Amino acid sequence: MKAKRLILLGPPGAGKGTQSQRLVDELGIPQVSTGDLLRAGRKAGTDLGNQAKAYMDAGKLVPDSLVLALVEERLGEKDAREGYILDGFPRNEAQAKALADRSIEIERVVNLAVPDEELVRRLSGRRVCRDCGASFHVDFHPTKVEGTCDRCGGETYQRKDDTAEVIQSRLGVYGEQTQPLIAYYGERGVLRTVDGTGEMEAVYRAILEALEL
Ligand code: AP5
Repeated sequence: MKAKRLILLGPPGAGKGTQSQRLVDELGIPQVSTGDLLRAGRKAGTDLGNQAKAYMDAGKLVPDSLVLALVEERLGEKDAREGYILDGFPRNEAQAKALADRSIEIERVVNLAVPDEELVRRLSGRRVCRDCGASFHVDFHPTKVEGTCDRCGGETYQRKDDTAEVIQSRLGVYGEQTQPLIAYYGERGVLRTVDGTGEMEAVYRAILEALEL
């Protein structure tokens, strides 16, 4: 099977962004990260970005109506015709149903399983590039030059929602609203769970196996 419409599911910090970046190169399809799209909207000062700000800074989900409008627009772009990797979407059952209502058939959902303690370690040490969004970690995946993105040379920074308090809020929201999607996609026969705790390379190999690539 050549899976082309994929979802990377998992808690904050599970490695969805990190692994999506590699899959983009392997599969030649774009990563569609609702978190990145919302952050781009904030940076550009769009209405949607401004409305999303308070929710994101508190670690809460942005209202479905805003996110769905964003996804609808992005999936309509030319580069998404051959498929895409959804990262951070859907995040609750209403969003999953909205995808299904549009007759979008998802070939594979890869669930990255990582325990909370490790997620906290990953999120609190994460650094992200302001320009290209690449994700690094001060201990597990440091940039070659401190503060400078290896990929594009942009400046790296710590996300505002990667503080101890907001991380706890995000983990709570994940457990209440996103985790039920594991059962939702499991019932539809498309879910594969991958152990996300190993080295990045090992996790990547396990994802390719789950995708039967
Ligand atoms: P979003 O940007 O989607 O954040 P998230 O889901 O919380 O996920 P993260 O980006 O934090 O983690 P990740 O799994 O991508 O991990 P990463 O690869 O970076 O969303 C942010 C906010 O936007 C939400 O809180 C919400 O407000 C809003 N939002 C977004 N989508 C929405 C939606 N659909 N509906 C409503 N609201 C929405 O890795 C983390 C760190 O670990 C990195 O430093 C990385 O280098 C390191 N790492 C990765 N893999 C490994 C490994 N195997 N070993 C060691 N370190 C590793």
